[in-house]
Amino acid sequence: MESEVVVAENLVKRYETFLRKGIIKRERKIVEALRGVSFTIRRGEVFGLLGPNGAGKTTTVKILSTLLLPDSGRATVLGYDVVKEATEVRKRIGVSLSVEKGFFWKLTGRENLTYFGMLYGLSGSDLKQRVQRMLEVVGLEELGSSDKLYEEYSLGMKARLSVARAMLTDPELLILDEPTLGLDPPSARLLRELLIRIAHDEGKTVLITTHNMFEAEIVCDRLAIINKGKIIALDRVEGLKRSVLGDITLEINAILPVRVSLGKVADELRIALGRDVEIEPEEEGARIKVILSPKEKELVTQKALETLYSLGAHIRRIEIKEPTLEDVFIELTEGEAK
Ligand SMILES: Nc1ncnc2c1ncn2[C@@H]1O[C@H](COP(=O)(O)OP(=O)(O)O)[C@@H](O)[C@H]1O
Ligand SMILES: [Mg+2]
Repeated sequence: MESEVVVAENLVKRYETFLRKGIIKRERKIVEALRGVSFTIRRGEVFGLLGPNGAGKTTTVKILSTLLLPDSGRATVLGYDVVKEATEVRKRIGVSLSVEKGFFWKLTGRENLTYFGMLYGLSGSDLKQRVQRMLEVVGLEELGSSDKLYEEYSLGMKARLSVARAMLTDPELLILDEPTLGLDPPSARLLRELLIRIAHDEGKTVLITTHNMFEAEIVCDRLAIINKGKIIALDRVEGLKRSVLGDITLEINAILPVRVSLGKVADELRIALGRDVEIEPEEEGARIKVILSPKEKELVTQKALETLYSLGAHIRRIEIKEPTLEDVFIELTEGEAK
């Protein structure tokens, strides 16, 4: 089995719209939604497309879902071309582009899923079992909500049902456009856990879009940052943070015994940590700064504290400054803003 589930190569998409000029006059306007988007998604990962509104996220997932044709470039899903072999692609993907779209308000969650299962060609005990299993996987069964009317569902339950529907045919790839949009924090959190479980326990590949950097950071294995129709960075979250912003800073404020000089502390720390240490006097003690990589975070912090304690220091404050994805995004898009 090939390990690449999605391959997008240089996707370009333009929309033609009209710009109002006064009451009647309108001017044709071309919106360049995608300006050459390329990425690959590997089997079993949660891949995120992160970007602000208007970046081109929905356009990208619509092309991969065979709902929209690209102007140029190509994309394959599980080896099938999304334009020339759209039927094959559709058989193998589950899509949720909008949490609430297409459900029947007067049917229960179970009845809704049963209806869609029939549309997808399932029937009999197969259908019944599949619906039951999906209600369990997304946690609606646990909530006792499987047999509640859809109109009584909270947005969080609707979001779960939408994921359940996308998974009905046991697709290899799930494509979810802003799956947590509008959810309250606890519901969003449950849904995020669900997505991670689906990928890591159920062996599915999951593509989500989001404008929420916190979400991208905790849910996605790998991430493409998209802005104005272009991918501006693509990596694992840790890699993105490091490549753009360098390392982590450990800062310790300590009170030192009178007999211990700053110079001695610096020397001891340099030996113990095997790296340069910045040290400055503060009113009652010292401020110590060390640069470290994500891997060494715990070990170096521990060694630094041990060394300071062994010198008789009192620790007043410890701060580990890590770049956030938000920092990365700002750094990457700086200068691009109008
Ligand atoms: N049907 C459409 N007609 C005209 N412009 C569109 C259409 N759909 C999207 N756009 C424009 O294309 C750009 C990308 O949109 P979209 O892919 O929806 O971004 P995102 O999902 O990241 O918010 C935006 O500038 C948007 O206004
Ligand atoms: Mg969108």
